[in-house]
Amino acid sequence: MRIGVMTAGGDCPGMNAAIRGVVARSTAGGATVVGFEDGWEGLMRGRYRPLDRNDVRGILVRGGTILGTSRVDPYVHGDGYESIRETVERVGIDRLVVIGGDGTLRTAVRIDDDGLGVIGVPKTIDNDIGGTDVSFGFNTAVQIVTDAIDRLTTTAEAHNRVMVVEVMGRTTGWIATYAGMAGGAEAILVPESEYDIQDLAARLRRRHQSGHTYSIVVVAEGVPAPEGGSRISGVDAFGFDRLGGIGETIAARLETLTGFEARTMALGHLQRGGTPTAFDRILATRLGVGAAEMALEGRSGIMMAVSGDEIVPVDLRRACADVRGLDVSRHREAAWFFA
Ligand code: F6P
Repeated sequence: MRIGVMTAGGDCPGMNAAIRGVVARSTAGGATVVGFEDGWEGLMRGRYRPLDRNDVRGILVRGGTILGTSRVDPYVHGDGYESIRETVERVGIDRLVVIGGDGTLRTAVRIDDDGLGVIGVPKTIDNDIGGTDVSFGFNTAVQIVTDAIDRLTTTAEAHNRVMVVEVMGRTTGWIATYAGMAGGAEAILVPESEYDIQDLAARLRRRHQSGHTYSIVVVAEGVPAPEGGSRISGVDAFGFDRLGGIGETIAARLETLTGFEARTMALGHLQRGGTPTAFDRILATRLGVGAAEMALEGRSGIMMAVSGDEIVPVDLRRACADVRGLDVSRHREAAWFFA
């Protein structure tokens, strides 16, 4: 049996651990593995390399992806399945393990429908993929943002400032809520919950008047501006809005309304870089191993998912049908500590 593996969409910590899991388990089961380079582009252009156990030594702790990634999509930038058919037949791929986020997994559904059996592995710092309790990359992003909040708190305190921390998450507030809670934020603005800028300013004024010399406000990038409308600077190759800049807008409004100096820190791609946490290394490894086991059994049309402490196969179509928004009860729990 020959198993293909690829990574596509935005990179995220743990992708290499997942590739390592796929390769180690597949080769132990008697299969050969090839890795396609730069996401779907590798399949479209026939760019791949064989991967054995030695090729994936030492990559467990490395961020990024040794295979490269892209947002190129055969159904948007090519002739759909025809764009990859020649490579699939020439290389002789029996099953394809696709490590990706919701956009990539939706493309994987179409590839599976059109003839090449696919097994999905969910990755994203945004934690917005359905069918799984959590996706790898999220825990690392939350840790990075929490570390940043800790550092921003001491400098904000020294200067009596309001510090607005803008974080990723696309249309969801998972990263904002978890990191804001871990960092003890005075407010967390998420797309899933409305906010009132006047009310927030009043609460920050009261907090500073009662002797506190700083406030941390965490803002998810997908939050609408106080006057409405998200900060969209274009769309990416999968058709997703490119977000960013809402932190500046919120900081400017808070400065005007409170009279306190407000600064913005948009953490951007820092949240996706560097080594994965132990949690994400383990999760990505287990998902990769699970995907390889399903491939060896000849299964397809499934996504490996986390259910409690177990790694289980779920229906790929259902898993990526909807974006998994933040569980707002988590935001309500964080709100007990708001200003
Ligand atoms: O989906 C992951 C993510 O990091 C989002 O949180 C963010 O909006 C987007 O990707 C950024 O994409 P790019 O790397 O293309 O700028």
